[in-house]
Amino acid sequence: MKVLVTGGAGYIGSHTCKILLSEGFTPIALDNLISGSDKAVQWGPFYKGDIRDTALLKKIFTEEQITAVIHFAAYINVGESMRDPLKYYENNVSGSLNLIGQMTEHNVQSLIFSSSCTLYGNTAESPISENCKPAPINPYGETKQIIENVIIDLKKSYPLKSVILRYFNAAGAGLDGDLGETATAGFHLVPLAIRAAMDPDYYLQVFGGDYATPDGTCIRDYVHVEDVARAHVLALKMLLQKPLNAPYVELCNLGSERGYSVLEIIREVEKITQKPVKYKMGPRREGDPTRLIAEATKAKKLLGWHPQFSDLQTIIRTAYQWHLRTNS
Ligand code: WQD
Repeated sequence: MKVLVTGGAGYIGSHTCKILLSEGFTPIALDNLISGSDKAVQWGPFYKGDIRDTALLKKIFTEEQITAVIHFAAYINVGESMRDPLKYYENNVSGSLNLIGQMTEHNVQSLIFSSSCTLYGNTAESPISENCKPAPINPYGETKQIIENVIIDLKKSYPLKSVILRYFNAAGAGLDGDLGETATAGFHLVPLAIRAAMDPDYYLQVFGGDYATPDGTCIRDYVHVEDVARAHVLALKMLLQKPLNAPYVELCNLGSERGYSVLEIIREVEKITQKPVKYKMGPRREGDPTRLIAEATKAKKLLGWHPQFSDLQTIIRTAYQWHLRTNS
């Protein structure tokens, strides 16, 4: 059974393709390689290209008999989305509309959509359940909410079966040591904190020490990338058991349900690397919510999802091992 994985050369996409193959699916990766790496495409056919390329999508849907789509392809940098919102709306919204339009033209009814906790914004709710009203405070989160609404509206006129997955902070690296963060390592906290421990010339900039949290730094819910990837395959299997031509849309949070501040991440990196993390306290990063911690009961009940690797030590240890492997 062929599954189109947009962003299949990316961080979570490549981990998902690996699990898809191990479960008997054929992952077809589509990626423009702006942030993905072709070295991460090892699990099935690869199309280098963009979700905005209608002709390419038509070719793939026509030639590959796609049964389902897992849609990761997006820009995901919160800070960058504040500086360049048009880039985010053009790619994340227009690109997704193009992809979903081609799905309807080729009667592909199953879609797993990569959404984000970022759309909860600065909610006071903690932990955050799926019932929390989205209130994004950055363009990245806005683009995710728009496509969620498109999916919810589309099911009224098209037999779309979809699971929307709202990730919290995906982090860590594959336990086999073959996959990890590449492009996102350039701006995500965990790889940057490890770099600040390992690279004598690099200082981590802590974005703000005056938040309303115990140590003044932002709190996030870190969830291991393999657990996040596994959730996509569980969601796909659940959708494929649903009857055809019967619309169905559900959304789930994916998080470890534990929150750690920036300084707590720094301390854990120091413990695991046995080196000091060089950092400077700096100004807040615009668009950063104070605290984002998941309530993830629904994914456990609906998908049978049980995070296995999302303890902080495994997340940091696997990210550290990936750093050693890719920076030696
Ligand atoms: C984490 C914390 C920063 C870098 C990510 C993805 C987003 C979504 C949620 C999936 C924040 C602080 C960071 C640095 C810092 N995932 N930080 N110095 O912004 O929470 O969002 O997870 O959709 O796509 O981007 O992750 O790792 O950038 O930041 O102080 O140099 O670390 O302020 O509080 P973020 P992040």
